[in-house]
Amino acid sequence: RAEVVINGSSSPAVVDRSNESIKHDIQPASSKWRHNQTLSLRIRKQILKFLDAEKDISVLKGTLKPGDIIHYIFDRDSTMNVSQNLYELLPRTSPLKNKHFGTCAIVGNSGVLLNSGCGKEIDAHSFVIRCNLAPVQEYARDVGLKTDLVTMNPSVIQRAFEDLVNATWREKLLQRLHSLNGSILWIPAFMARGGKERVEWVNELILKHHVNVRTAYPSLRLLHAVRGYWLTNKVHIKRPTTGLLMYTLATRFCNQIYLYGFWPFPLDQNQNPVKYHYYDSLKYGYTSQASPHTMPLEFKALKSLHEQGALKLTVGQCD
Ligand code: CTP
Repeated sequence: RAEVVINGSSSPAVVDRSNESIKHDIQPASSKWRHNQTLSLRIRKQILKFLDAEKDISVLKGTLKPGDIIHYIFDRDSTMNVSQNLYELLPRTSPLKNKHFGTCAIVGNSGVLLNSGCGKEIDAHSFVIRCNLAPVQEYARDVGLKTDLVTMNPSVIQRAFEDLVNATWREKLLQRLHSLNGSILWIPAFMARGGKERVEWVNELILKHHVNVRTAYPSLRLLHAVRGYWLTNKVHIKRPTTGLLMYTLATRFCNQIYLYGFWPFPLDQNQNPVKYHYYDSLKYGYTSQASPHTMPLEFKALKSLHEQGALKLTVGQCD
């Protein structure tokens, strides 16, 4: 039983009380969707009770110093030391300080984007968020190019850049980082111990080659705060995905939020196969017990918010 109840409302926005399997038919992009400003503002206010994206988007320089010990969020028994490089790259002020945007795009990585022709529409938004350094150049027609913030889980270095085993892979990563050209690179460095070296390699590369990116490292409380918000609204997620984290943060500084590439299902609405990622051959693993995510449940919550006009999900072709 999944339901989304928006707290503090006189008429709670309860979505789905059925125990049926998840139905995920979304109206085509062209059909009528109207932004519900009142609901968006209410959601922003409620999320602000749990976290403040302006602050929680990154730990700031003033709050840590080299040598400080941090306990990983998901591996409390493991610790890391704040390195000199990490310290150098901590922002002095929030990269989102006093930022407000009319419309924002959050681009997930589902293969549903392929042949969507959504590139232009995505690039037309004032602020574009992408996930896990997903490639754009070769897919520009479908995913666009504009990138204002891109996330990078440390595991991406292993998955997409062969753990920088040789100069070729290091160069590939370096080129990708250079292409970010001043945008925010958001690195969850304090989540799990596995990413320690990978974060250090990236930090080193950025400093050594004077890469023009604005690094941000999410606060230690962000993940639990995001989870807390959704749990309070009866969305029982295990560990929020990057996509859901980005939506939750974006409510703070975006008036209207448009989601693309969110489709954690192997078939599209016409029963055609959909790749897990638009750019690689990773397989669907979200249903396995081992996966920390509950993507279909997240999707259900997002779909409900779409239906209420709090966000717009595009899962087909753009006009
Ligand atoms: N996503 C989706 N459907 C897919 C693939 C991804 O809805 N088939 C969304 C999810 O919200 C995901 C985001 O797009 O978080 C980015 O995709 P990906 O890089 O695959 O993220 P994850 O592997 O889930 O990374 P993480 O573990 O950081 O959440």
